[in-house]
Parts: sequence; structure tokens; C-alpha cells
Amino acid sequence: MVLAVENLSKSFGKNLVFSNVSFSVNKGEIVCIRGKSGEGKTTLLRCLTGLETADKGSIKINNMYLCKEEDNRIQYAQKEKLQAIRQEIGLVFQSFNLFPHMNVLENLMEAPLFLKNDSYDNIRKRAEELLNRLELEGKESSYPYQLSGGQKQRVAIARACMLNPSILCFDEPTSALDEQTRDQISKIIRDLASRGIAIIIVTHDNAFVDEIAQRIITMKDGKITIE
Ligand SMILES: Nc1ncnc2c1ncn2[C@@H]1O[C@H](COP(=O)(O)OP(=O)(O)O)[C@@H](O)[C@H]1O
Ligand SMILES: [Mg+2]
Repeated sequence: MVLAVENLSKSFGKNLVFSNVSFSVNKGEIVCIRGKSGEGKTTLLRCLTGLETADKGSIKINNMYLCKEEDNRIQYAQKEKLQAIRQEIGLVFQSFNLFPHMNVLENLMEAPLFLKNDSYDNIRKRAEELLNRLELEGKESSYPYQLSGGQKQRVAIARACMLNPSILCFDEPTSALDEQTRDQISKIIRDLASRGIAIIIVTHDNAFVDEIAQRIITMKDGKITIE
């Protein structure tokens, strides 16, 4: 098991987004989280990736706690541990969030260079390999505005893979794509899963869920059901 979520709850002020959410995800598994707009799907992903803090419950990634319940209070991992845990779970944003002033190669290399966890040459080599795998060779020095939606998304995926995450989350990956690009993303996601990466896809695209999900989690009225 790479991810275990237990009794997770999150509110914004008086707005209870979800409560007591529990589920787990295995290595290489593809799990879809679906639900109508406003049900809290993005908020859940943001909690899992540490971009948002939960109010209650625990999130365990690769046997390390991102947060856990202690003495009735939620406790988050401290600095270095937190950084290590967050590297295990990547997020491909709905709007991709590429750095607009950096070219493709720079977008990929930014985080690993900042974290100084490998040499420049190794990081660069890894970036080139990922760009090849995602059919982006030749785009190294392009800027985000020069890319199509599908290409931007693939750059965002390559960037998320640079830190070798165990889990990759996608927020509405098909929302901006046409039919052909949709088939491509579905193939890429399956390929990542076959390499052992656990995949969590948030979507309200039911056809995509039918096509790709090995397990389906539905969010409704702050609760989840698992099929
Ligand atoms: N940063 C925030 N501050 C306050 N409320 C928020 C914030 N982010 C999301 N919400 C609220 O949380 C609820 C769930 O939003 P969201 O997670 O974006 O839903 P979904 O992704 O399923 O459409 C909504 O009611 C939304 O208004
Ligand atoms: Mg959303």
C-alpha cells in the first residue's frame, strides 16, 4: 500500500467540504475520484499533496505520515521529513501551472535543482529521458505559450515525474483535451501505472472513468463511497 488515508476531514470556515474520508491505494493502481463540481475533489488532492492542511485524520504515504491524529489534534510532519514525504506524491494541476517565464527544460529541472538531490548532469539527463518518453523531444527550449494544451499537459506530467514520485495525482486531466489527446493521456497514465506508480485521477468525465479506472471513489455531500 502506498497511500492510506484515514478519517480525513476538511472545512473552510463553516463550510465542511468532507469528513471522515478513508481509502487506500496500492502500487501501480489507477483509482478515479469522481463527483460533481464543488464536491471537494480538488481540495482532497490538495490535502493529499500537502498544499492544503486537513483538519482531522491521517495521511500515510509509503509508511511515512504526512499528518496524523495525536491527542485529538492533527500533527503534520516536520520540515525535512515533510519535504521528503511531499516528494513521494506529485500533482498535475488542472491548468498545468507551468512556469511561464521558463522553457520546458527549465520547468522540469527547477524543483530537483532547488532540492539539490542530484548533480546537474543527472537531472538534465533525466529531464531529456522523460521528454522523450512523453513525445516532447525537440521542445526543450520552447516556452509554455508556444505549446498546445496536450503538450503543456505532457510537460506538466514530465515535471511531476522528475522527483520520482510513488503516487501521481491528476486533477481533471481530460477537461481541456480533444478526443485524440484524450487517448494519448490515457495511454500515458497506463504506462506510468505499469511502471509501479500509483495513480489518482480526479474527474467528472464518466466515460474516462469507465475506460481507465481500476477502482472508483465517488464524493458526494462530504462523504465517499468506494466501488
Ligand atoms: N481556498 C479555499 N477557500 C475557501 N473555500 C474553498 C477553497 N477551495 C475550495 N473551497 C470550497 O470548497 C468546496 C469544494 O471545492 P473543490 O475542492 O474545488 O471542489 P471540486 O474540485 O470537486 O469542484 C467548494 O465549496 C469551494 O467553494
Ligand atoms: Mg476541482
